[in-house]
Amino acid sequence: MSGRDEPIVLGIETSCDETGVGLVRGHTLLANTIASSMEEHARFGGVVPEVASRAHLEAMAPTVESALDKAGLRFSDIDAVAVTAGPGLAGALLVGVAAAKAYALGLGVPLYGVNHLAAHVAVDQLEHGPLPKPCIALLVSGGHSSLLLVPDVAQDVISLGSTVDDAAGEAFDKVARVLGLPFPGGPHIDRSATSGSGTAIAFPRGKYDDGTLDFSFSGLKTAVARWVEARTASGETVPVADVAASFQEAVVDVLTRKALQACRRYDVKDLLIGGGVAANSRLRALAQERCDAAGVRLRVPRPGLCTDNGAMVAALGSELVAAGIRPSALDIPADSSLPVTAVHV
Ligand code: KG4
Ligand code: ZN
Repeated sequence: MSGRDEPIVLGIETSCDETGVGLVRGHTLLANTIASSMEEHARFGGVVPEVASRAHLEAMAPTVESALDKAGLRFSDIDAVAVTAGPGLAGALLVGVAAAKAYALGLGVPLYGVNHLAAHVAVDQLEHGPLPKPCIALLVSGGHSSLLLVPDVAQDVISLGSTVDDAAGEAFDKVARVLGLPFPGGPHIDRSATSGSGTAIAFPRGKYDDGTLDFSFSGLKTAVARWVEARTASGETVPVADVAASFQEAVVDVLTRKALQACRRYDVKDLLIGGGVAANSRLRALAQERCDAAGVRLRVPRPGLCTDNGAMVAALGSELVAAGIRPSALDIPADSSLPVTAVHV
């Protein structure tokens, strides 16, 4: 099938605080609508699961309708429904999975329960075309930091490494809090860092030379907090821009170093970076520099496709349909700790 004959897939994403609904036809994006409960969590400094679940419940039907409106489609145009079955917050996932089952049953179309991490990889095809097979994917967000070997995003994803403590975005958010910047902190650190120096303070780089493809950011976060505390205790002003830039440099140095180590180790010439932290300007710049030096091609989806969204779920669903994968049963569970190797359930 090609062009207008390709099936239209509805994608539903509710693994964290974004109610995302996407519509795709093959690799063509038709709509990507998001309702976020971020503002309701901001005063707590992090996502509150119960608040997120309730917000998904309220946003679900209107967000689906608004995506259909935007795409100029009707419910009867939908050929398949895909939904994030995990990993993520259990109660939040449950809302999306229940809604997807209801839509699939009501419309009489197949259901595909998919893996959130694989969806972060598949989404790039909407912007940059078919994924090279294999590619390496670095996924960095508030909830995950993973390095994956992706021979085929529809059926074969292999975990090479992940964080042993905080996710990269979580470290950005916690350090921002220490610096008195608002939640979510990543964009604020990114902005503040542009007027600071990345070499002003030598913060530690966890697991830099340990030979694994795992990450650790909790030591770095603590080192920044101690450094700021010591400054404050001695009555000195905290050079926020320099701390932000030096912290950011430590994170992106480790992320890009390990991503390129993975490319070398598995002899792969294509690197994809996804997740909310992929919006970071210094990460993009350093990754490009190091990829150029290593002869590796870099793919980074635009920011709206990097952060959690429904289009990524629809994109992976569309891939499964095209590969002739059997649809999911209507009694699939939401699995908060779904392993990345389970691309679909
Ligand atoms: O993918 P995402 O929207 O949701 C999760 O699955 O977590 O990622 C959100 C994370 C937050 O931790 C946020 O601080 C971080 O992505 N982030 C950034 C930037 N923009 C968002 N981190 C660093 N630099 C940025 N420009
Ligand atoms: Zn995510």
